[in-house]
Amino acid sequence: SDIEKGTYPHYMLKEMDEQPTVIRKIIQAYEGENGDLTIDANILEALRAADRLYIIAAGTSYHAGLIGKQYFEKMAGIPVEVHISSEFGYNMPLLSEKPLFIFITQSGETADSRQVLVKIKELGYPTLTITNVPGSTLSREADHTLLLHAGPEIAVASTKAYVAQVAVLAVTAYVTAKANGKGLEFDLKQELAIAANGIQTIIDSKDVLEDIAEDYLKISRNAFFIGRNIDFYVSLEGALKLKEISYIQAEGFAGGELKHGTIALIEEGTPVFALVTQEAVGLNIRGNVKEVAARGAYPCIIAMAGVDEDGDRLVIPQVHELLTPLVSVVPLQLISYYAALHRRCDVDKPRNLAKSVTVE
Ligand code: G6P
Repeated sequence: SDIEKGTYPHYMLKEMDEQPTVIRKIIQAYEGENGDLTIDANILEALRAADRLYIIAAGTSYHAGLIGKQYFEKMAGIPVEVHISSEFGYNMPLLSEKPLFIFITQSGETADSRQVLVKIKELGYPTLTITNVPGSTLSREADHTLLLHAGPEIAVASTKAYVAQVAVLAVTAYVTAKANGKGLEFDLKQELAIAANGIQTIIDSKDVLEDIAEDYLKISRNAFFIGRNIDFYVSLEGALKLKEISYIQAEGFAGGELKHGTIALIEEGTPVFALVTQEAVGLNIRGNVKEVAARGAYPCIIAMAGVDEDGDRLVIPQVHELLTPLVSVVPLQLISYYAALHRRCDVDKPRNLAKSVTVE
């Protein structure tokens, strides 16, 4: 397996580097004969027939699902619920008349998600698995499959599969929206290509992320990630990455929610990473940063070009407002990676974790 890793010290670094390529592969894989994005006709039919989508997933895939909800609701106008698979089995919500269940799973083997699939099949509802592994259990057992085309992901901490999940969810929502005659004012293919280039720009200047990791996380015992709207979901994923590989206690929060309790944890020097990619909430999230800074926090603002301000620690390339997770997650992945390195942690095989969890 050293051969597959090539010159990379870790699979995680290699897999983060592959992210622009993964997006380009997804564009190709979902390109129809006329050059437009497309998905399998049966899957499109199932999506259009549904009155509500139920996304079921665990871990990083759950975080991708939260973004998928936004895509289906904002682009296609289809209501969506996102559920943690281990909860759904015994705490099932009331279902709509014509639900479609979407299982998001990198491995296609997660037992928590599979037990929901088994139950849903018993109930007779249609199912779609979005996975990286063709022929995996959840792919075989669901009615339909959409593939992530991310290539094998070896590092336990998921990076390129997350980016692929977000991209495939965007494609699926976009194609459904178009089929339903929604007037979308952007060309997703083009916007995904821009996002791929944006990721490349961040990867090409990884040294900056190494500096940030050293500056903010070398000795800290905890860290917060905040954002609003879609940035909130990426904050959750940023915090999970840091926990998984560096063992630093981290939480992702909706910026406005901090003051309702968690701000009590802010001490002199507490690192707070704030994502600022959404113009509509830019002032609000910057207000939250001021609140924590006034209590001693050490804030690191990661802003998108176009909504950035003087003093922001990192400015990431501008992309379509719905696609910001594809680029904003990358600096958070890299910061976690370097924080783990500084702390001499086993980046690819963190303690207590498994790549796919086949027990409930
Ligand atoms: C494990 C992995 C996580 C992953 C989760 C869900 O806990 O360590 O990285 O997000 O399972 O896996 P799945 O294969 O279903 O996406």
